[in-house]
Amino acid sequence: MLKSFEVVVIGAGPAGYVAAIRCAQLGLSTTVIDEWKNEKGESKLGGTCLNVGCIPSKALLESSENYERVAYKFGNHGISVSGAKIDVAKMQARKDKIVSQLTGGIEMLFRKNKITWLKGHGKFTGGADKYTVEVSNGGSVEIVEANHVIVATGSTARHLPGLEVDNETICDNIGALALNAVPDKLGVIGAGVIGLELGSVWRRLGSKVTILEALPNFLAAADGAVAKEAWKIFVKDQGLDIKLGVKIGKLSRGKRGVTLEYETAEGKQALDCNKLVVSVGRVPNTRDLGAATVGLKIDERGLVEVDAHCRTSLPNVYAVGDVVRGPMLAHKGMDEGVMVAERIAGQATRVNLETIPWVIYTAPEIAWVGKAEQQLKAEGVAYRAGQMPFSHNGRAMGQDETTGFVKILADAKTDRVLGIHIIGAHASEMIAEAVMAMEFGASAEDIARICHAHPSLSEVVHEAALAVDKRALHA
Ligand code: FAD
Ligand code: NAI
Repeated sequence: MLKSFEVVVIGAGPAGYVAAIRCAQLGLSTTVIDEWKNEKGESKLGGTCLNVGCIPSKALLESSENYERVAYKFGNHGISVSGAKIDVAKMQARKDKIVSQLTGGIEMLFRKNKITWLKGHGKFTGGADKYTVEVSNGGSVEIVEANHVIVATGSTARHLPGLEVDNETICDNIGALALNAVPDKLGVIGAGVIGLELGSVWRRLGSKVTILEALPNFLAAADGAVAKEAWKIFVKDQGLDIKLGVKIGKLSRGKRGVTLEYETAEGKQALDCNKLVVSVGRVPNTRDLGAATVGLKIDERGLVEVDAHCRTSLPNVYAVGDVVRGPMLAHKGMDEGVMVAERIAGQATRVNLETIPWVIYTAPEIAWVGKAEQQLKAEGVAYRAGQMPFSHNGRAMGQDETTGFVKILADAKTDRVLGIHIIGAHASEMIAEAVMAMEFGASAEDIARICHAHPSLSEVVHEAALAVDKRALHA
């Protein structure tokens, strides 16, 4: 018998599973179709984020940072440790346990909210009064129908021609998160978020890491001052070898890894490495979705076309998360999922793409919201800037985490905050205040007049806001 639902969600990553939970909370009968299988062939919820993205990468970042602290950094506190060792198998088992706790947690949330989970590949097969979606899993095929469809099929790592990913020697995010030993030499293509985060993990554990980046400038999306500080810390202090303006050439495989030819302004060179990570961005999953069958518009980059409210070209069909425009970030997808569920239920929710925070979980962390200084300059916006280093802050000193700064950009006339940029320990947590301020249309003076706990790293946000008006107290 044909199963019928109010809402069918295709994809159970953060955008899709959150959309489904919110739909169910609002009393809509909901099913989620997902085809994800782990390396053991078991179906798992949570998509990229929980299985091979945000969660496992942060687990490895924490383990490797702890190792580096114990092995090299605790000396300043008077703590000496000799013979610190890393057990990679145990580190990976801890990561796997966190992943299965969280993916299992979503199964539980689905049961609690009476959401049906259909395992398999979802594809539009028709749409007149209602949409029909085929779910295929191996040999079995089932058709479900629904009044509303939410496409949340996410994204997959982009690969490069001639560099076939086997996730053994040449890895995308999936293999790079599962290495079972520390490679002596790790090559990474792409100095973006994954390159920096996963490059840091394996560097801390002892790999010699070389990152090859196509662009001539480093971290182009970040504020220029942050990118400059990050370069100094990652390259000069920590020893990540990052080459810019690189053109990737031929690859040859050997017994102990690969040799990759590349070219920079300095001429032709070659990189020998035991493992190579390809992290050059991600592509949306819209192939084999039956989009043409129902006339769902897909743009030239493969993204589902949507408006500001995630409505697609078809009535009652929405798309959210990595498969649509905007940053490919889990929290952006989750917010869109909630918005769409509430819109289906007749509410008028919105998502403000201007206040989505970015975080890079390196050490120190990098986080920002709003515009970078170079963007304001390019747009001809008159602004004032206030910048304050962590080196003056008592809590930062106590924690031995004094690198970096907070920078606030505010409109020169109205003082409204236009961007907040942080490079420093716990930037991922501090950015929440910045997002809140911008979402409420705060001025730099508003932040300056709000009481910040002492001693805390957040005092540096306070001082940067004071610095916008050239009246920082501790500089
Ligand atoms: P996905 O998480 O990709 O989920 C889509 C799901 O749909 C998958 O399960 C897929 O199998 C399924 N699917 C696809 N097509 C079909 C189909 N036709 N039928 C059935 N199922 C289908 N973001 C952050 O915000 N913070 C981070 O710290 C962070 N770290 C990351 C680290 C790494 C290594 C990577 C790779 C990504 C990271 N991201 C991070 C990005 C984040 O993972 C994505 O933005 C997020 O997962 C997107 O969510 P989504 O629901 O749109 O798609
Ligand atoms: P990215 O877009 O962050 O970086 C890719 C980098 O590769 C860019 O700097 C680009 O210039 C470079 N590049 C592209 N083609 C190249 C080539 N042929 N040769 C050399 N360099 C090349 O993409 P990445 O790191 O793969 O991550 C994908 C996405 O996943 C991110 O954009 C982000 O949305 C998400 N993510 C988020 C994280 C977080 O929020 N902390 C962590 C990891 C990923």
